[in-house]
Amino acid sequence: MQNAVVMTLLSALAGTLGIAHSVSAAPARAARAAVFGHVGKDAVEIYTLSNVNGIEAQIMTYGATIVSLKTPDRDGHLQNIVLGFDTLDPYLAGVPYYGATVGRYANRIARARFTLDGTTYNLVANDGANSLHGGTRGFDKRVWRSDATASRNSLKLTYVSASGEEGYPGQLTAHVTYRLLDDDSLSIEYEATTTAPTPVNLTNHAYFNLSGDPTRSILEHKLTINADKFTPVDATLIPTGELRAVAGTPFDFRTEAVIGSRIDADDAQLSVGRGYDHNWALNAAHDNALRFAASLADPVSGRVLEVRTTQPGLQFYSGNFMNGKHAGQGSVYGYRTGLCLETQYFPDSPNQPAFPSTILRPGETYAQKTVLHFRTLKAPAN
Ligand code: GLA
Repeated sequence: MQNAVVMTLLSALAGTLGIAHSVSAAPARAARAAVFGHVGKDAVEIYTLSNVNGIEAQIMTYGATIVSLKTPDRDGHLQNIVLGFDTLDPYLAGVPYYGATVGRYANRIARARFTLDGTTYNLVANDGANSLHGGTRGFDKRVWRSDATASRNSLKLTYVSASGEEGYPGQLTAHVTYRLLDDDSLSIEYEATTTAPTPVNLTNHAYFNLSGDPTRSILEHKLTINADKFTPVDATLIPTGELRAVAGTPFDFRTEAVIGSRIDADDAQLSVGRGYDHNWALNAAHDNALRFAASLADPVSGRVLEVRTTQPGLQFYSGNFMNGKHAGQGSVYGYRTGLCLETQYFPDSPNQPAFPSTILRPGETYAQKTVLHFRTLKAPAN
């Protein structure tokens, strides 16, 4: 039975019984919610958020994942700009973080261990000797709980990570709130509290392809990154600790550059990353203010994505490990057909005292926000 019908019946019944209309004041659920599948006996829900201009985001509770994000091109044609899958099965079978919320610690921790307040914690090594994106079963592979306050354009998801899960200390309660705003932005807010000191680093791992056609590579996209420095890495993609100036290197995106124009340059950092897979240290002091991090433009569709964040770093990953093994929503996801702009703290911060601290202690609240703003270029670019 439709909700509206139930409401009308309850309302009529309340009227008959002389009860005030409190029933109809029940909080509105997200406009569209459906069951996407199951993990064991847990239902995985998928919510469709929308704004007044027709932008639409589908978010599922497995991994607090963005499944699709439809935005207009310069002619107003709505297309999906993040790579995803039509059913839950491929996500459960294991795909590399498509659209997912990544935690407890996004990115790498060297040798899968760190020492905090004199105790050494051993994590699960799932990337050679290192820990990547929270371990074998990180936040991307957990069913989050949706909050009853979900509305047409917002959804709050919660995951409680047990103490000791994947080796991390303290029970961590994490929230991710998605809001699709009428100014054509998707705001992603993260919050967490803990029962014991622990590193925390949460991000979203959407693979963008602004063309709306995932058979096209992202090498033609133009990228700007608001960073004078990046953190060079060793052969296992762990930062060496150096903050290196981007000036004069293929890592200089301070003015807009075509991604493919330097990706094959003879550069030691590009060769260890097999392309771009690095963290940029965003400009401006780290003061929790929302600031411009990056913008991405696709000259063909005219779509532009602008990223603002409170986080100090941005991992730009150019889809170098993509190999056509995964296909979804009608396309095979081939080499470099998606790129990630992961706002985050720097990789391996728990082992790098000079990097901004990622340690959350009891009584403190981790709070970060990233806003993705969508617009279009007015006229075809050359
Ligand atoms: C991250 C990493 C990459 C890769 C992808 C997933 O962005 O930095 O090296 O592991 O996730 O394939």
